[in-house]
Amino acid sequence: MKAGEKSCRVLALVTCDAYPDLYEDDLLLVDALEQLGIESIPAIWSDAAVDWTIFDALVIRTTWDYFERAEEFRAWLEARIAAGALLCNAGDILRWNFDKRYLQDLEAAGVPLVPTICIARGERADVAELARARGWEEIVVKPTISGGAYRTYRFLVKNAADHAQEIDETLADCGVLVQPFLPEIFNGELSLLFFDGVFSHAVRKRPAPGEYRVQFTFGGTNEVAEVSPELVAQARACVLAAPSLPVYARVDGVIKDGQFLLMELEVFEPLLFLAAHPEAPERFARAVRGRLGGKDE
Ligand SMILES: Nc1ncnc2c1ncn2[C@@H]1O[C@H](COP(=O)(O)OP(=O)(O)O)[C@@H](O)[C@H]1O
Ligand SMILES: [Mg+2]
Repeated sequence: MKAGEKSCRVLALVTCDAYPDLYEDDLLLVDALEQLGIESIPAIWSDAAVDWTIFDALVIRTTWDYFERAEEFRAWLEARIAAGALLCNAGDILRWNFDKRYLQDLEAAGVPLVPTICIARGERADVAELARARGWEEIVVKPTISGGAYRTYRFLVKNAADHAQEIDETLADCGVLVQPFLPEIFNGELSLLFFDGVFSHAVRKRPAPGEYRVQFTFGGTNEVAEVSPELVAQARACVLAAPSLPVYARVDGVIKDGQFLLMELEVFEPLLFLAAHPEAPERFARAVRGRLGGKDE
């Protein structure tokens, strides 16, 4: 069936130039949706030729350049919201999760975070001074609008001067987060996946030898992880703190001194590691169908 014929539902799986045919993991979602009688096709958010009104819903997937084109993407998102598109996740969640200052909301709600200082865009701040005041010797500085470890810098506080220019450049565009570097990352970053707030599966993402960034683009690998019911409950509390219930959510964090510290709550465009659990694609597809209104439930 062609997009635009309304006899059956057609979803856009929203992607970017670099992944015109989606990332391989999401092909499992395409198949699972098809099993439910729902067609889905990739659509590149920045492609002006796309008519977004032909789709029954827009599922944000691999828009992995949005943080490099933040204002353009924000305008695209607002245009879809204004046009009444059915977004998945919902527009209120996407707006909130766009900028990592949402971490401050979660901290205020009592979520244990990787210790984080937020510096606002354009603010002049002495990163080294702030870090020293907290006793941090090695830090990570990263943009508040980011993904895939974009513009993420790790350095010793005593060498902060070497990084002043790149931090100033980031601050000209958006805010930054300053955190202590947690060597526990070498044991891996845990990701817990939820559909409609229900826990599905977990993976441990490990950096390549000599790396600290766990993303596959830096050679990171992942494996299925067993997690305790207590950890699932803690992660679920993060998911429920979003402005509305996300269809899909990934809770990322590291274990330090036996405690799970949140790195980020990804309810925007997370890789969902669907291949890591045989039922994950169907769970995701069913949650998406629920967002459509569950007409064929
Ligand atoms: N405080 C930190 N300590 C250790 N590693 C970190 C820290 N902050 C980020 N990293 C590494 O950098 C990666 C990217 O940072 P993250 O906060 O997850 O941003 P994003 O995934 O949005 O780019 C993480 O997955 C992790 O590997
Ligand atoms: Mg991350």
